[in-house]
Amino acid sequence: MRQKLQNIKNEALAMIMQTSDREELENIRIQYLGKSGYLNEIAKQLKDLELSDRIEAGKIFNDVKFAISSALEPKLKIENCKLKIDLDPTLPGTHPPVGHLHPVTQAIEEISSIFEKIGFSRVRYPEADWDWYVFESLNMPPGHPARDTLETFFIDAPVHPKLGQMVLTTHTSNGQVREMERVGKPPVRMINIAKCYRRQSDISHTVMFHQFEGLVIDSGISIPHLRGTIDYFIHHFFGPDRKSRLRPFHFQFTEPSFEVDITCDICLGKGCRLCKEGWLELGGAGMVHPNVLKAGKIDPDEFTGFAFGWGVERTFMMKSGVKIDDLRLLYGNDIRFLNQF
Ligand code: DAH
Repeated sequence: MRQKLQNIKNEALAMIMQTSDREELENIRIQYLGKSGYLNEIAKQLKDLELSDRIEAGKIFNDVKFAISSALEPKLKIENCKLKIDLDPTLPGTHPPVGHLHPVTQAIEEISSIFEKIGFSRVRYPEADWDWYVFESLNMPPGHPARDTLETFFIDAPVHPKLGQMVLTTHTSNGQVREMERVGKPPVRMINIAKCYRRQSDISHTVMFHQFEGLVIDSGISIPHLRGTIDYFIHHFFGPDRKSRLRPFHFQFTEPSFEVDITCDICLGKGCRLCKEGWLELGGAGMVHPNVLKAGKIDPDEFTGFAFGWGVERTFMMKSGVKIDDLRLLYGNDIRFLNQF
């Protein structure tokens, strides 16, 4: 019996080793381990043995059965896989497409790193904020016509007894008085980049957009500091060929106020079909109004400051080589458009 079992084992293992064919392997399984296979035949004969022989033969029987099925099973599994999918593990894998940051996020990161290099701290303030921070503390009392230009979304929430109604921030200037409150005593060197909302949608406006707001307050801050900071930014963001100019303007929260223009990236200031006069408008800037300093509990006789607030999307679009004729494309989620940046 012992010899018989050994022979069956050797024979079966040799057959299994020699083949990878699924059908042959299946036949081997039926022949040795199947219902009327060799091993079951032997199991029947075990019953007729003397008890001590039966115990010994039973052990060998189990070993043989285990050896055959453990040689057979892994091979059958691999063969099954082969049948289902044509798997070639030596082929190189296909790489999933790798994305990149949205162009506006890239611009935000670039803008903040340019300002952080000269000591500005990046901050964020609420996107839904009180009237006081968005308008009133910025020298725009209720009913002031300057508010109308901002196309504000009002939030249906209880009115705060001191801070007024809650609105979606129309500009990042809401960070000015908030930053003065946070820092307490100058120096203040803030770069606030955040989402803003206005009821406007056309080729140069999206309802949600971003602004970056710079604010510097210290003793002896004057227009040349503003000028120098703007030149530094333009040089680093747009490249050394572009120039800027300050054009007198009016904002409630700065005095004097300016609009900052940059030379067109096509004609570099000479004037062309696209820009007409050679200059493109970037955004607002000015010297912080004394009333705004007072609202932030800073003494305007001791400290002065400058501020600027520009649209991220607009600034990004004016970068050399970036031509977008409809700003809304930035938020259309069309991967063919976004992949270009
Ligand atoms: N908040 C203004 C706007 O959205 C832009 C602006 C102008 C910001 C002048 C400033 C500034 O900080 O000094 O239209």
